[in-house]
Amino acid sequence: MNKDLIIKKYKKQIKSLNYYNKKYYNDNISQITDSEYDNLKKEIIDLEKKYKYLESKVSPTKTTGYKPSKNFKKALHRVPMLSLANAFNEDDLLNFEKKILNFLSQNINSNIYYTAEPKIDGISASLSYKKGKLISGLSRGDGKEGEDITSNLATIKDIPKIIFAKDFPEEIDIRGEVFIQNSDFDKLKEKFANPRNAASGSLRQKNSEDTKKIPLKFIAYTFGFEKGLKIDNQFNYLKKLSDWGFKTNPLNRLITGVKNLIKNYNEVEKQRANLDFDIDGIVYKINDFVLQKRLGYVGNAPRWAIAHKFSSNKAISEILDIDIQIGRTGALTPVAKIKPINIGGVLVSNATLHNEDEINRKDIRIGDTVIVERAGDVIPHILSVDIKKRSKKSSKFIFPNNCPSCGSKTIKEFNLITKKNDAVRRCSSEGYYCEKISVEKLKHFVSKEAFNIEGFGKKIIENFWKLNLIKFPQDIFKLNYKKIGKLEGWGNLSVENLKYSINDKKNISLERFIYSLGIRHIGLENAKLLSKYFGSFSQFKYLSKNNRFKDLINIDGIGETQVNSLKNFFSNEMNLKVLTELEKILTINNTVFERKNGLLKEKTFLVTGKLNGVSRAEIKSLIEENSGTTVSSVSKKLNYLIIGDKPTKRKVEDARKLKIQIINQVQFFKMLNKTS
Ligand code: IVH
Repeated sequence: MNKDLIIKKYKKQIKSLNYYNKKYYNDNISQITDSEYDNLKKEIIDLEKKYKYLESKVSPTKTTGYKPSKNFKKALHRVPMLSLANAFNEDDLLNFEKKILNFLSQNINSNIYYTAEPKIDGISASLSYKKGKLISGLSRGDGKEGEDITSNLATIKDIPKIIFAKDFPEEIDIRGEVFIQNSDFDKLKEKFANPRNAASGSLRQKNSEDTKKIPLKFIAYTFGFEKGLKIDNQFNYLKKLSDWGFKTNPLNRLITGVKNLIKNYNEVEKQRANLDFDIDGIVYKINDFVLQKRLGYVGNAPRWAIAHKFSSNKAISEILDIDIQIGRTGALTPVAKIKPINIGGVLVSNATLHNEDEINRKDIRIGDTVIVERAGDVIPHILSVDIKKRSKKSSKFIFPNNCPSCGSKTIKEFNLITKKNDAVRRCSSEGYYCEKISVEKLKHFVSKEAFNIEGFGKKIIENFWKLNLIKFPQDIFKLNYKKIGKLEGWGNLSVENLKYSINDKKNISLERFIYSLGIRHIGLENAKLLSKYFGSFSQFKYLSKNNRFKDLINIDGIGETQVNSLKNFFSNEMNLKVLTELEKILTINNTVFERKNGLLKEKTFLVTGKLNGVSRAEIKSLIEENSGTTVSSVSKKLNYLIIGDKPTKRKVEDARKLKIQIINQVQFFKMLNKTS
């Protein structure tokens, strides 16, 4: 069979498999027998193994087991299931510890204790117990909401269904990892690409009798919601877990000092190949629960924990071509198209080259033999070039001076903060004039954190753009559904679904709206700050008319870079037109101010000088947790100036003039009914 025919066959098989998946999981219909299904899947896997060039994002080897089934009920986690930041080397760990000590305002020589827990590569689950009885079990889902897979989890022998221990909390969500041991996976090899897929697929079986047949294991390591847990550190918690009948990892350790963490890491890595379960790193958690609580969270990961990933997988390949991708903000990102190569179980055919400077620094050229590295979930990148293997005819890669999409000049901006030219080259066109930028902007507009239009994926945006159905965000709300209905692959139902998803999102919060505009440097957090500041769309829109850009600098968290970017955005006629058009179609809701009733409600604070035993960051989170706000300058809006050691004289004088209350650290903690 020639290559074209093989690709055609492969694509067709994947299409059928995904069709059967959809029928089975969404419509409860089995159109083929289990063995026919398994054979089809195996054929796809075998084809991929034999012909390394075959690749598909929706291949069963890429998707985690099965798609989340709509058959499972969704349920909210009472406490979100978070993810972990990654560390790859000693420097990352030193940095992690330094940040913690800064936040806690502790001496660099303080001994912080961590638990070091091997990170099993499986599927996490949260088990809710009430009065010792297992009442429900959820998958992680998106961290906020999971799938109710209680009956499947209940088939796992390692999960106690009833716990009699007197000290078992009245209510607790026990969390841990569901996985398959490598020795058991050997027997399932034909059906699944790897142990993780096998665990995930088995947990999502429609019929729990099918799950029961798979030897799933469960290791417990943390908890979510709890009532009556009387333990004050993680290591004791791990010990208690095993007293209560849960399995815990025998390689869990209690360690202090980065040097010792590294020593343990190296020892575990040596044993890695001999373990009967896959681990991809070690999780470090601050042992003391009081410190964990003080440190809190940033984004969706705790400040008090980190995953130290095992060294990456590397492979040798060849650069076939260098592609230039253009992002939403006009950034030109070079991507190396490499000869497909299997790195740690994943077929890699693209590697990022980051930016122009990186290509020049490593002198990367088309045709070069290179070492490609793939570490964890990070995009593969080129580690080094084997110059000896370079052909004499090879020539330096010249980064384009013009945008490959619209032909505009490409520029490197001067960064006001670093006082250097950016490493990134950008298309200098004004957003919507460049095809690639427009398409990326539209993808961002409908994305999850922006308008979150379900079923409006990247491929559809690209296709609709080509067909002139959408050019600007407002066009999304004026789609020609008749025309879409006639397109290949679109039926009545899918058109109706799309129409419904779009209309459903015409009502939007100001915060999401601002984010969806894709203004450079205005991510989710900044959009939130701006929406709080403006309160309404009309205020936001008139920003340029009133020329109030200067005032924005007073928002804590907004800097010169963001202000300049907003100025740029509003000086572009096309952007103003988009805003006017969207305003006609949408209901943009005013910001809802959370009226939290904390002790510092409606009070504003500013800190000057060094405080004792508590960092600025911790004071800021304390103020916010108690419904207060922090500001960055002395103005009439300020209620309290907290002064520490060596305060800025100017701030104190200004505060005096404005008759603002000046307090010290002790007085501040008294306001919170705390002593320090
Ligand atoms: S603790 C806030 N402990 O790693 C704490 N996670 O990237 C978050 N994992 O989704 C989880 N072993 O699936 C924790 N000993 C361990 C773990 C562990 C594996 C997984 C888990 C989680 C992911 C976080």
